[in-house]
Amino acid sequence: MTGQPYRHITVRPLHPLFAAEVTGIDLTQPLPDDVFAEVAAAFDEHSVLVFPGQRLDNDRQIAFSRRFGELEVMLKGVVGEDRHLAGISNVDPKTNQIIPADHPRMLRQYGNELWHTDSSFKPVSAKASLLHGREVPPSGGETHFAAMRAAWDDLPAEKKRLCERLVAEHSFVYSRRQVVKEDFLTPEEKAEVPPVPQALVVENPRNARKALYVASHAERILGWPEAQGRALLDELLAHATQPKYVYTHRWRPWDLVMWDNRATMHKGSAYDYRNHRRVMVRTTVAGDAPTITADEVRRREAEAATLAA
Ligand code: OGA
Ligand code: MN
Repeated sequence: MTGQPYRHITVRPLHPLFAAEVTGIDLTQPLPDDVFAEVAAAFDEHSVLVFPGQRLDNDRQIAFSRRFGELEVMLKGVVGEDRHLAGISNVDPKTNQIIPADHPRMLRQYGNELWHTDSSFKPVSAKASLLHGREVPPSGGETHFAAMRAAWDDLPAEKKRLCERLVAEHSFVYSRRQVVKEDFLTPEEKAEVPPVPQALVVENPRNARKALYVASHAERILGWPEAQGRALLDELLAHATQPKYVYTHRWRPWDLVMWDNRATMHKGSAYDYRNHRRVMVRTTVAGDAPTITADEVRRREAEAATLAA
């Protein structure tokens, strides 16, 4: 599809490296297969798609998201009762009032302000996320995206060879500790999210494009001393989030933004949590498989010590 005009949709790049706006499409209506195929191709090509002015309700958001694959089930749905929806919001849907900024439901969300990819702390991480802006604050609350394919492409060859032989361990408990000092997860909640291994480099099988796969959830490099693994992860995160790799999305009401978790990182930004309403609804398309097999994790972990120069 690269270089060819789309016949049914209009695709306008938003950044030199990735991200595009898609117009000429109404997502409140079921999409014919040929139109959907163009959206899917644009998604593989650009990694972040912005669909402005889509007045979706929960059911329509779920229906469109489902076209890309099975949806992840949230631990506890906060939007209505449907567990395929995650509320990224400072408004209590039951009372329609702003939630106090120190409430556990808010504390849980501040972790979104660290660079991450969704669900990399789960054995099968998320393929795509779709976030819909229902109410957006007048300032702040932007979402930043980092182009992890470009970040990968630009790494020196030697670093690429190293990364392709390593495994990172991702942990939800670890990333949440970075933002909130007090422990707001119960022992039961922690037990549901044990650390998981993830490849440091992932490839999209549909176009063979590779991307660096790190996130605030990445805690250590398997088989490496703590400090050395931390140094590599911090270096990769700093590299990938240089301004030249970042697209910042400023939300307008009814934007639907869809991103490829295996080709981008993202992070939210602060806003006036106490005075401005921000109501976003996310659907999440599950990945097809883990980023690495258990056998390969064992093989790389055993070999890692020899690479720790
Ligand atoms: C998310 C997320 C950031 C934001 O929905 O997965 O990280 O800006 N959101 O709300
Ligand atoms: Mn996220």
